[in-house]
Amino acid sequence: MSAEFDPPEFDRHAASYDGGIDNSVKRMMGDADSFIAVKARWLMRREPALRSGSLILLDYGCGVGDLMRVLAGMGARATFEGCDVSVGMLAEASRRWPAAFGPAPTLEPQEGARTRFADRRFDVVVISAVLHHVPPPERPAVYAELGRVLRPGGRLYVFEHNPRNPLVRHVIARTPIDANAVLLDAREVRQGLLSAGRYALATDYLMFTPPGMAFLEPVDRALAWLPLGAQYAVAARKPA
Ligand SMILES: C[S@@+](CC[C@H](N)C(=O)[O-])C[C@H]1O[C@@H](n2cnc3c(N)ncnc32)[C@H](O)[C@@H]1O
Repeated sequence: MSAEFDPPEFDRHAASYDGGIDNSVKRMMGDADSFIAVKARWLMRREPALRSGSLILLDYGCGVGDLMRVLAGMGARATFEGCDVSVGMLAEASRRWPAAFGPAPTLEPQEGARTRFADRRFDVVVISAVLHHVPPPERPAVYAELGRVLRPGGRLYVFEHNPRNPLVRHVIARTPIDANAVLLDAREVRQGLLSAGRYALATDYLMFTPPGMAFLEPVDRALAWLPLGAQYAVAARKPA
């Protein structure tokens, strides 16, 4: 008897993927790109060399490539590469990449947590809004893979929804693409990373104000220490 192939969940969402902005509460806070732009601006501040073209950046679980596209639109000139378990999402990422930005990023399908990238290939690895879609028993393999492809001295950034924020829990419970989501807080991410490698860690909380009102971002930056923002970023530096 042949084993049944179960295609990755996001293959079903790929063609119409809009980051869950069909949720009316989320839509009131800004358009889909404004949510991505908060993370992209945070990354540009954290990694000024993104403007120099010298960094190789992996977007792990890149989906339709929104983060790389928004970064490039802000002037980032890194070598972008992406991977995902869903070939449908990767096909959309190629299709949605603006021709004006030059060639689309290299995009690689994953086999489970594993990628085809060489050990220590990347200066920067980003994983954004992915871990809550990975079943908890499978997360250690993801942390291990992120550490494998990051070079010594490289930086790893984990962006996630913050389950301590009640509005986040309300939206996630009503968003079809999050039907199987298991949210995790920043402490769980830090523990997961530390069980896979010796990182120096820092955490920022993001999105206290609506992403569509970018002029309020100074308020967000002043509150980055408060564990109530709608999202958080865990920054991990691998020892040199
Ligand atoms: C909500 S989307 C986020 C996409 C993108 N990172 C972003 O921020 O726009 C979640 C993505 O995680 C991917 N995904 C789910 N499980 C994964 C896994 N185990 N490894 C890598 N990607 C995974 C899905 O295929 C999907 O593209």
